[in-house]
Amino acid sequence: MKIRAAVLEEFGAPLAVQELELTEPRAGEVLVRLVACGVCHTDLYTASGADPSGYAPAVLGHEGAGVVEAVGEGVASLAPGDHVVTLFSPQCRECVHCVDERTNLCLAIRAEQNLGHLPDGSTRLRRDGEEVRHFMGCSTFAEYTVMPEIALAKVNPEAPLEHACLFACGLSTGLGAAINTAKVSAGSTCVVFGAGMVGLGAVAGARLQGAERIVCVDLSEERLQLARGQGATDLMLGGPDTVAAILETTGGFGADYTFEATGNVKVMAQAVEAARMGWGLCTIAGVAGKGETLDLIPRWLITGRRVAGSSFGGVKGRDQVPEFVEMAMAGEIDVAPFVSHHLKLDEVNRGFELMEAQDGIRSVIQFG
Ligand SMILES: NC(=O)c1ccc[n+]([C@@H]2O[C@H](COP(=O)([O-])OP(=O)(O)OC[C@H]3O[C@@H](n4cnc5c(N)ncnc54)[C@H](O)[C@@H]3O)[C@@H](O)[C@H]2O)c1
Ligand SMILES: [Zn+2]
Ligand SMILES: [Zn+2]
Repeated sequence: MKIRAAVLEEFGAPLAVQELELTEPRAGEVLVRLVACGVCHTDLYTASGADPSGYAPAVLGHEGAGVVEAVGEGVASLAPGDHVVTLFSPQCRECVHCVDERTNLCLAIRAEQNLGHLPDGSTRLRRDGEEVRHFMGCSTFAEYTVMPEIALAKVNPEAPLEHACLFACGLSTGLGAAINTAKVSAGSTCVVFGAGMVGLGAVAGARLQGAERIVCVDLSEERLQLARGQGATDLMLGGPDTVAAILETTGGFGADYTFEATGNVKVMAQAVEAARMGWGLCTIAGVAGKGETLDLIPRWLITGRRVAGSSFGGVKGRDQVPEFVEMAMAGEIDVAPFVSHHLKLDEVNRGFELMEAQDGIRSVIQFG
């Protein structure tokens, strides 16, 4: 079938929205009609050429939500009409990681996904006979996409898809960092560095876990106000003296849990240092630049601080994304403030510009 999609043709150049050929889903695959898709830093990072593992031509986009149109052979968990959220981090439910509750890093399709292929090693996207690659296994800057069944979370059909799509990436990452990775305990003190989508999700996750104090640190007053809306009890402008300020406000000890959601390695070090001696746990969700290293003083660790990393918030997507969507529908997670701009597919590059200007948290593309 013919679809319109935003293609990364050349690194550093705007995406080109154009017509492509999308072939039908094969065994284990699903054809999805996109309804909404968030524009994320990872799309921009790849489009810019900064990601050394990037490739072109490819259809970008990975924060999609839509409706199943058709399923390939052997697909049992989804049927036409189902509402789905796309998962760049799949859940096959069979691999050694999927059956272990300690991780969400499904091993089933990693290698092919990283190459821009569907699990059988080929692509469903074509242009004049030439293959166009899939991005993060999703390619959701498109009217339709074909994805593996194991990379789609079936969600409540009553949920607004322009909100549900945000659970495809940053929001689930932040929520999961607090709920799954750190397992924040009730009554605790948390500090969240960064009030973008991931940090705000961590604030919400800490609140849902019953944290008593949630300090959010960012460079933007505007973003800190959004953190207040998600449950932050204290707001702090970040800077070189942030650790001292956190110690001061926590009786000299630091926080039970800290979260890093900026991607800046200096902030990561602050987040570790600001965790409490004895048992403080620092969860790092930010993605550092290629080749950057994290500089820690070993004494911080010997005196009882711990460091954890979190990919997609430890969320096993097919199980937990539908739960998050239900929580949003029940009013426990306030998604609306994250959607700052609605765009059409043709305006996808505007989404990048808004992101670079730090204008709002998320632009959401609406299709049709
Ligand atoms: N681990 C994962 O699976 C995963 C998933 C999605 C995104 N990420 C990463 O998480 C990070 C955050 O993503 P986002 O979408 O929220 O980004 P974002 O750019 O919207 O938010 C980052 C925030 O950090 C703030 N900040 C920058 N420097 C700071 C400092 N010195 N002190 C305090 N705050 C500071 C910025 O003002 C901004 O509000 C990125 O590195 C992103 O790549 C990770
Ligand atoms: Zn994303
Ligand atoms: Zn798996």
